[in-house]
Amino acid sequence: MEIAVLGAGRVGTALAVLWSRAGHRIVAVAGGPETRERAATHLPGVPVLGPAEAAQDSEVVVIATPDAMIAEVCERIARAGSIHPGSSVAHVSGATGLDALDAATSIGATTFSIHPLQTIPSVEAGVDRIPGAGFAVTATSEEGEMLGDRLAEDAGGQPFRLADDMKALYHSAGVFASNYLVTITAIAQQIEAEAGVNDSGEYLATLQDATLENIRRVGAADALTGPAVRGDAATVERNLEALAERVPEAVPSYVALAELTAGIAARSGRLPAEGRQAVQEILTRWR
Ligand SMILES: NC(=O)c1ccc[n+]([C@@H]2O[C@H](COP(=O)([O-])OP(=O)(O)OC[C@H]3O[C@@H](n4cnc5c(N)ncnc54)[C@H](OP(=O)(O)O)[C@@H]3O)[C@@H](O)[C@H]2O)c1
Repeated sequence: MEIAVLGAGRVGTALAVLWSRAGHRIVAVAGGPETRERAATHLPGVPVLGPAEAAQDSEVVVIATPDAMIAEVCERIARAGSIHPGSSVAHVSGATGLDALDAATSIGATTFSIHPLQTIPSVEAGVDRIPGAGFAVTATSEEGEMLGDRLAEDAGGQPFRLADDMKALYHSAGVFASNYLVTITAIAQQIEAEAGVNDSGEYLATLQDATLENIRRVGAADALTGPAVRGDAATVERNLEALAERVPEAVPSYVALAELTAGIAARSGRLPAEGRQAVQEILTRWR
């Protein structure tokens, strides 16, 4: 297929590289001031044009700008006459609905979104890690779904269906699984430094690797260990007292996560009612 990528940043460029490896032709890319250099490095020979010109000669237009710019870029190419009823227009945002592509839908173009459920801090990381990732495909037509599936698969991804009105909810799961994992890790490193354990990054990463491996092997509920799932109220209280003294900003999140942990453990039958009650009494006091 002939594909234009409007917003060839980290994700757009990585997808363009993977699609061209799969035999598609990237006809042009567009973007801001840094896009030219990125394209020269990763997509040699691909012209960098304005959005309307880049979209002009392509079968599929993929908008990979920051979320807030998607609708504006789509309106711009629709107004310029760069897309028509036979065109296909997609975006790659997880939390943004298809309404951001209304300008294209209203002129009869096929619209859809494809979201790689992956963390992509650089083009290189995207090229490495998008293959194998899940891809949420959202479309209101069969044609959009088929095209979304094909583009996801050609980037090496594993497509699954996501309803348009569920996108924000779906995306919040990724925020927990990836972004907050990073936040929790940063706090854990800070706490270890307070405890006099410097350079804890490597030790904590080894612990986390084993935890992720356990989750993959036995599932989240059975992979739980630690004081909340054991009903060990005394240790929960000791943790909280120590945190209150040295890292007080971590207390509210410890309490909130301990409550969720005890709930998961109780529902999976691993934490008897009296253990949960003992833990909850402590947590209620520290809320
Ligand atoms: N990064 C992730 O982990 C990740 C994962 C999945 C999905 N996504 C989604 O992927 C999309 C892009 O995210 P990203 O992380 O790749 O962002 P990014 O690296 O900041 O890239 C954004 C691209 O859009 C360009 N751009 C900025 N403003 C523009 C405008 N007004 N008109 C045209 N182009 C403009 C930028 O140009 P310059 O760089 O030249 O300024 C750049 O080429 C978003 O929808 C995001 O939700 C991101």
